[in-house]
Amino acid sequence: MKEKRKLINILGIETSCDETAAAIVADGKVVKSSIIASQDKLHEKYGGVVPEIASRAHIEKIYPVISKAIERAGVNKEDIDAIAVANQPGLTVALIVGVTAAKTLSFAWGKPLIAINHLHAHLQSAILVEANPQLPAVALIVSGGHTCLYDYHRPLEPELLGSTIDDAAGEAFDKVAGILKLSYPGGPAIEEIAKKGNPDAIRFPRSMLGEGSLDFSFSGIKTAVLYYCHGQDMKGENKVDSMSKQEIADIAASFQSAVIDVLVKKTELAAEKIGAKTILVGGGVAANTELRNRLEQMCGSADPPKKLLVAPKRYCTDNAVMVASLGYYKFKAGLFADLTLEPQASG
Ligand code: KG4
Ligand code: ZN
Repeated sequence: MKEKRKLINILGIETSCDETAAAIVADGKVVKSSIIASQDKLHEKYGGVVPEIASRAHIEKIYPVISKAIERAGVNKEDIDAIAVANQPGLTVALIVGVTAAKTLSFAWGKPLIAINHLHAHLQSAILVEANPQLPAVALIVSGGHTCLYDYHRPLEPELLGSTIDDAAGEAFDKVAGILKLSYPGGPAIEEIAKKGNPDAIRFPRSMLGEGSLDFSFSGIKTAVLYYCHGQDMKGENKVDSMSKQEIADIAASFQSAVIDVLVKKTELAAEKIGAKTILVGGGVAANTELRNRLEQMCGSADPPKKLLVAPKRYCTDNAVMVASLGYYKFKAGLFADLTLEPQASG
């Protein structure tokens, strides 16, 4: 009888921002466990992630989260083939916690170490849907810290086509939610209230940065919302307190629609440029249903239609499944790091 091939189990570790996460994924696609300790409650009152608070919370949670991931997966440390860790980009004081834990376990258990780019991991979360997408493919990664377009013709080396020159899309959602006095993180709060709003109520700017540009800019729209709520000279009182729920819903819907217009247009442009057959989408903002629907429409009406692969919602925001999954491909390619691995803020 043919002997069954042993699955390759990768332990993934993610601490780039405000989620402490660990996961065990077999062969890049079989999710055996996924544990996430979210810090949303700790950062809520500041309206954004405070690096020192994030770092301290990662230190408290990292080993319990890793232990739980291993236990939940029903494996022993002997069954783990390698340890993959996001080492860039992100907050250095946060990344260092995951990197130190991964290096320690790699040394203590004698397991290979794999360095993962967090943004490439977000892209990988769309590949979880279909391991071999038709190429060429454009990948849109929209998160709290980044907004990027990639040419995904080489699976382990996506080529950057464009990125934000100021705020990321998710950051704009968070800041606008702050202006509108909605809860944190802002993306889900804006999406929820926008359902009751009119997306055509206010015409917020859509910054395209010149013909053919694949870069993004979202600071202008954030400022436009701020002026709308405080007056152009910023001397007027914040009108939000006296606004009706409907007015706030209209602002949220109009803002969301403007951001999505830009994301969809630029993705379409990138797809035209490289003749993409597939569009991959990942990152926290990709959890937004309106964005998913608009991308679906764009792909369906293209000639010929394009295949849209969006990360499952649970793997849009930061998680370690995407880290472990990409780790498998690096494992197979023999791309290992050593114990000199350091965190890098940019990447
Ligand atoms: O990928 P992620 O978890 O962290 C980073 O790598 O930055 O993304 C977090 C971002 C936050 O800005 C959050 O507001 C946004 O994703 N987000 C959303 C939604 N869910 C999360 N934005 C729009 N609509 C959503 N449903
Ligand atoms: Zn992320």
